[in-house]
Amino acid sequence: MKFFVDSADIDQIRELADTGLVDGVTTNPSLVAKTGRDIKEVVSEICAIVDGPVSAEVAALDADGMVEEGRNLAGIADNVTVKVPLTWDGLKACRALTQGGTMVNVTLCFSVAQALLAAKAGATFVSPFIGRLDDMGLDGLELIRDIRTVYDNYEPLTTEILAASIRTENHVKDCAKAGADVATVPPQVLQTLVRHPLTDKGLDAFLTDWKATGQSIL
Ligand code: E4P
Repeated sequence: MKFFVDSADIDQIRELADTGLVDGVTTNPSLVAKTGRDIKEVVSEICAIVDGPVSAEVAALDADGMVEEGRNLAGIADNVTVKVPLTWDGLKACRALTQGGTMVNVTLCFSVAQALLAAKAGATFVSPFIGRLDDMGLDGLELIRDIRTVYDNYEPLTTEILAASIRTENHVKDCAKAGADVATVPPQVLQTLVRHPLTDKGLDAFLTDWKATGQSIL
């Protein structure tokens, strides 16, 4: 499973990208608004840090407007993925943009039927929001599992399942078990993935024993 960082914060993205384990980035209008900066500058800086797909979302609601904004965003860098909402206009814009060779991420997906439409529209990625479904007392992971099953029934469908709205380490594990192609993870959750108390405890014990030997490896 690929890891994308779900953030528009340049410092956080740079720090995580330095690990070499970041395959892409997703932003959305709320994340860009939080930076207080111009979207084109932010997206351009992220694209210079990360080689993989960087999602940048349109704000227009009509297909023509989305295509126009999408082309502008795609002009920022080769690795921009234009994000469009899962509406009829968003699907029309998806079709037009992908036919022109632009990667498209169809976002705000909450059902299998929506995911099927996104795939038929040629989406590069579809983004089911699991955390927001969990917030309503529903099962976000079930949606990932169901989309995986349905997509696998139809080999020509190449749309990648990009699990979004991830809140916990368990979400990451369960997305991988469910066969999501990508998980886009907030920096604070991504940072926690490496941690385990037994790793810390084990390392302490190894280092204590090693010091007692008085040896040096160099
Ligand atoms: C990613 O593409 C989404 O915009 C993001 O994961 C939404 O997460 P949230 O539900 O925590 O806002």
